[in-house]
Amino acid sequence: MNTKIKILAFVLLLSMLGCNHKEKKDAILLTPSLKNEFKANFLIGTALSENQILEKDTMEIALISHEYNSITPENIMKSMFIHPQKDTFNFKITDKYVAFGEKYNMFIHGHTLIWHSQLSSWFSELKDSTAMANAMKNHIKTIVGRYKDKMGSWDVVNEALNEDGTLRKSVFLDVLGEDYLTLAFKWAGEADPNTDLYYNDYNMTYPEKRQGANKLIKQLQEKGIKIDGVGMQGHWGLERPSLDDIEQSIINYAALGIKVAITELDINVLPSPWDLVGADVNQNFESDEKMNPYKNGLPDSVQTKFTKRYKDIFNLFLKHQDKISRITFWGVGDGQSWLNDWPIEGRTNYPLLFDRKLQPKPAYNAIFNLNPLNN
Ligand code: G3I
Repeated sequence: MNTKIKILAFVLLLSMLGCNHKEKKDAILLTPSLKNEFKANFLIGTALSENQILEKDTMEIALISHEYNSITPENIMKSMFIHPQKDTFNFKITDKYVAFGEKYNMFIHGHTLIWHSQLSSWFSELKDSTAMANAMKNHIKTIVGRYKDKMGSWDVVNEALNEDGTLRKSVFLDVLGEDYLTLAFKWAGEADPNTDLYYNDYNMTYPEKRQGANKLIKQLQEKGIKIDGVGMQGHWGLERPSLDDIEQSIINYAALGIKVAITELDINVLPSPWDLVGADVNQNFESDEKMNPYKNGLPDSVQTKFTKRYKDIFNLFLKHQDKISRITFWGVGDGQSWLNDWPIEGRTNYPLLFDRKLQPKPAYNAIFNLNPLNN
């Protein structure tokens, strides 16, 4: 029986038994859920799409509020959506996002203030350093200030590094130099001293990128700039990165005296064009059946590998629960995942714990009862 029906059946049963609302609510809180399973270890969250924020599907919202205690906006707080013109902010949906978190008593994370991608065109056209500094300061102070004391944390800067650990070329770096990082964290900390400030990036298990992140974080710390955590985006595969690389990275970042969050967890099960040695770069992958092998369902052999991968990863997270503040999945059900369209559009991927019908997959059950604190 799927989770959603289980919850409803449970509530119906309790109603028939004449339980009052509080008893029903308390009982629901005791039914198995990700957030209850890991409540002694770390927050468990999910990215929310616009439709989820608008509560379009009541059953899906019942599942989200039951399973997770933290939320991240998948897209709506990115500058092209929240600050589309220099003097125009769009807070309609972001206000609903924050209200969603308050309604369901969740830890509310903000993603993301400064990012070179999905950047409003007016922002990316700025060439003058004073104009850029004023634009960044207004962007950060207006948004963070609006939600002051409501946000548990922010991704202040997202993906500022190259794989070799050097700073990624962006309009921010071009116009303001490396100072843009210091300014971003400084202004965010001034706008809301009570929210945790994160640096967020992918491939943070790569040794060179890890060194670059360490340098970035230490430079902020040496300047007395508040940085509370690092977000390791968990866009991982069935084999890579290795458990050892993940573990060494968690230990490495925690040693800087900051929190570690796994911010965008999903496990890609499809072949990657980059794995094709000597692949013809002009090849049209969209039509290549080899690149979309599981259109009609995931073979048991792959499901088994996928399940073991999540179990191994969560065993590692529990081993280092003292360092980890939050684990956020990058979506609820497989149908929502960005990985169905990246790097090749129109594929059928299976990266999350719930399937396209929002049924829990074997990987969901596999990460329960791992927690030494519950035994
Ligand atoms: O909302 C517009 C819609 O109005 C328009 O008609 C449509 C046309 O294509 O685009 C829609 O915007 C899309 C947006 O998601 C909202 O759905 C963009 O095209 C699409 O590129 C965008 O993709 C998002 C991607 O970031 C780029 O921002 C993915 O959903 C999102 O999962 C992904 O998330 C990022 C994190 O923010 C940062 N870390 C990497 C991660 C994966 O790329």
